[in-house]
Amino acid sequence: MDHFIYRDGILHAEDVALPEIAASVGTPFYVYSTATLERHYQVFDEALVGMDHFICYAMKANSNMAVLRIMAAMGAGMDVVSGGEYARAIAAGVPGEHIVFSGVGKTREEMTLALNGGIRQFNVESEPELRVLNEVALGLGKVAPITVRVNPDVDAKTHAKIATGKSDNKFGIPISKARAVYAEAGAMDGIEVVGIDVHIGSQLTDLAPYEAAFKMVAELTEQLREDGHNIRRLDLGGGLGIPYARSNEAPPLPMEYGEVIRNTVGHLGCEIEIEPGRLIAGNSGILVTSVIYRKEGEGRDFLIVDAAMNDLIRPAMYEAHHDIIPVVEAQAGLEPAPHDIVGPICESGDTFAQQRNIPPMDAGDLVAFRSAGAYGAVMSSEYNSRPLIPEVLVNGDQFAVVRARPTYEEMINRDTIPDWMD
Ligand code: LLP
Repeated sequence: MDHFIYRDGILHAEDVALPEIAASVGTPFYVYSTATLERHYQVFDEALVGMDHFICYAMKANSNMAVLRIMAAMGAGMDVVSGGEYARAIAAGVPGEHIVFSGVGKTREEMTLALNGGIRQFNVESEPELRVLNEVALGLGKVAPITVRVNPDVDAKTHAKIATGKSDNKFGIPISKARAVYAEAGAMDGIEVVGIDVHIGSQLTDLAPYEAAFKMVAELTEQLREDGHNIRRLDLGGGLGIPYARSNEAPPLPMEYGEVIRNTVGHLGCEIEIEPGRLIAGNSGILVTSVIYRKEGEGRDFLIVDAAMNDLIRPAMYEAHHDIIPVVEAQAGLEPAPHDIVGPICESGDTFAQQRNIPPMDAGDLVAFRSAGAYGAVMSSEYNSRPLIPEVLVNGDQFAVVRARPTYEEMINRDTIPDWMD
């Protein structure tokens, strides 16, 4: 459920009509709904009720400072994957002890930043990383709390570019090697083992891979306890999928995901940590764009819109589907017709949808791409020197720009000319 609904034929974000925002900030822009973000966090919280749990929002999905502030106010921790994300989380008021640090390539600088600023745990992904972390912690006179991210060799049945739990992916330590790595970690003075971590992929629409992976984690918990490790926390990653094509997709609900967690690891007495990103932010945001031209081709009609692949790269990168709907509802009786919906960038890959049935639309009409709140703005670029588009946050009947569109001058002045050219 989200809070983007038609009222009197006009698409609203909560109580704000989208044409009003378009008139104020210009198109294209992202708009996020506070109520939807809060609701999605609560749905996870309720799904894990009765188990000691902590939700670390995977801020890579949407790291706008206002979004982080909403999450922090709900009590969420953060899953970060870079020094930059760590700095954002701290700036949003999240205590270091609520931040988990994931990622295969943490640098010494990033480890130092997190150890000095406070950290809940590092999710360690390789033996070399473990040794470097021990060294860095000892150098600072600190002890680094860790889990080891295990790779269970489970097929998450998602797009190949976002599957992470197979042995040929770069992520984690093969689960078969885990006991040896924990033995090494247990003997290090700069390291404190606190638990186990697993994350098998993103946009999962089937619970069976979770069940398989979590059962393996349960078994490993018991083995590691026998080996003398104090395993008290299980970080089960994120990845629960969302409906992108609402007419025919119904991925499992957080409640059902919670049941799988309860049934596989609930008996172990561990604190359960999860790292959802997409399910919190994805359907909390949309991208609003204007039609520039409607162009009739040979056997194929195009709608050329003012958003492009630099603003939302998911269709070009993952062949992702986003529902595309008019901001002003079509009048009854007007038949939808197939169109290719494309941006202005000079590549054929700059295509949001092919042969998509949409109601008649023409230059100046506003169009919304749904499910664009996660991996939208954060993956955007200024390719073709198109300035980053604004992000807007709605809360009831209020809206505010939470990242402004740079002017051409601001964009250009980020480059500097070497002295020798003067
Ligand atoms: N934890 C870890 C360690 C992750 O690598 C990820 C996502 C998450 C949590 C959050 O997963 P989520 O709940 O959002 O599925 N750009 C891609 C998605 C990349 C996901 C990367 N890792 C897309 O647009 O589909």
